[in-house]
Order: sequence, then C-alpha cells, then structure tokens
Amino acid sequence: MSFSIDWLNLREPADSRARDSALIARLTDWAAGRPVRVLDLGSGTGSSYRALAPALGGHWTLTDIDTALLAEARHRHGDAPTFAATRHLDLVRDLEAVISEVRPDIICGSALIDLASSTWLDRLAGALPRGTALYMALSYDGVEVWTPNPPHEGVAHAAFLDHQRTDKGFGPAMGPDAARYLAEKLAGETHRVWLGDSPWILDGTERDLISALAAGSTEAVAQSGALTDAQLGDWAAHRAAADHVRIGHTDLLALPRD
Ligand SMILES: C[S@@+](CC[C@H](N)C(=O)[O-])C[C@H]1O[C@@H](n2cnc3c(N)ncnc32)[C@H](O)[C@@H]1O
Repeated sequence: MSFSIDWLNLREPADSRARDSALIARLTDWAAGRPVRVLDLGSGTGSSYRALAPALGGHWTLTDIDTALLAEARHRHGDAPTFAATRHLDLVRDLEAVISEVRPDIICGSALIDLASSTWLDRLAGALPRGTALYMALSYDGVEVWTPNPPHEGVAHAAFLDHQRTDKGFGPAMGPDAARYLAEKLAGETHRVWLGDSPWILDGTERDLISALAAGSTEAVAQSGALTDAQLGDWAAHRAAADHVRIGHTDLLALPRD
C-alpha cells in the first residue's frame, strides 16, 4: 500500500492539531535532558519528526518502505542536527533488526499500527526493549461523524470498517482495534501505558481534506458492493459536501517503569 506526498501533506495539519498534547508532554518529560535516539517506523516524509523533534530534540532515524518519502524527508530536514539518518526497509521483514541496530530510547510512529496485523503488533511488543519508550500516534479508531448525516451512512460505514481490516502488507489489519490491542499487550511489568483521543475535527475550511476522505471511503465501499450505484453516488455526494467531520483516532504511549 503506498501513500503519496500530496496525501501526507494534506492530512498533516489535521494530524498535528489532533495529537494528544498530554501524551507528548509525558514523553518529553520522560526524555528531558537526555540525548535520546529516536526510531520512527513508517515515517513517511517526517510528520512525527516535525511534531516531536522541536520539543524532544534527540537523534532521529526515519524508516520507510517508500524511498520517495524518505528522499522528501531528507530534502526537508537532512541538514538539521537532530536528523541522523533515513533507512529504507520493510517493517515486516526488518522490524527486529532495525531495533537491534539503532538501539533506540524511543520508538515512534504515526498512522501506522492500524495498518498492521495482530501478529506484527505482537512482534512489536515483543521487540520493545525494557528501557525503550513507545509512542504510536493517530491510529484510526473507527468512529466517524459526518454532518449533515449522509443517507445510507450506517451500511456504508460498516462496509468501510470491513475494508479497514483487509491486508495492508502486514497480514489482516487490526484497523480500529489496533491501539487498544497493542496497549493490552504492552501494559505489564516493564511498561506503563496511556491511550489518548486524537480525533480529526474538520470544518468546511478543510474542503480538500474532506473531499479526499470522501473519495477514499467511496472507493473502499464501492469495492464491497454494499450499496447500489445510485445509493453509493448519493452517499458519496453527501459526504463530499459535509460541513463538519469528526474522524476518531487514538494515540498510545508506553513508558518504561524504571
Ligand atoms: C499512513 S502513512 C503515515 C506516514 C507518516 N508516519 C505520517 O504520519 O505522515 C503509513 C506509512 O507507513 C509506510 N509503510 C507501510 N508499510 C510499510 C512497511 N511494510 N515497511 C515500512 N514502511 C511501511 C508507508 O510507506 C507510509 O509512509
């Protein structure tokens, strides 16, 4: 599954506003005064770097399967003292290896774990070193409110949720269940875990993002065959014209107990 620079640019302002600021404060307090090594999994062009590095500092390694996104990250930030390296990898193949090589103090990611399967999330939890923090932001939680409410919304949204659970390269995706699943895996002897809501709250001024979301969800629902062509067209038109949209996300933070 690939993600364009345009799409990542379009969503970044909404992502940035949505991140749970209390979890970021907790993470930066934990890291304060230390030259932390940060490993960003599925970094794209560096959205998490831009959100966190100003407060966190550190030495960042950005990783992705998409070389164009990594090149864009280097183009934007390659000269910054906090920007250490990019690594082209496949997180399905290379997860444990990159963690062993970088020996991060913090592993982070955004809009990633909802793409992953329970098997991969088990691997991530198993590979997290005892003293390393994990911050995974902006996992889709499955709750959407489009206003005014489009016709056929219940049937269409159920079909969309089914699509969220299809394979995105990591095996059957956990989709909206990912953050809670990973939180339960991590909470225990070695780490304390917090979840925070990070919804996108969009109004008519973000027409381009609303239109792109409406188009993306229409493509997914069309594949399901849950609506007739006429119903699909009606639903899609109402979504594209919505003047207020709330898309639920969850942020997860796990900090070492010692
Ligand atoms: C939704 S995008 C989020 C990008 C970035 N974290 C952000 O918030 O803008 C998911 C990212 O995961 C990357 N990705 C997907 N599958 C991957 C894999 N198997 N290995 C490494 N990166 C992967 C994609 O290329 C993409 O950059």
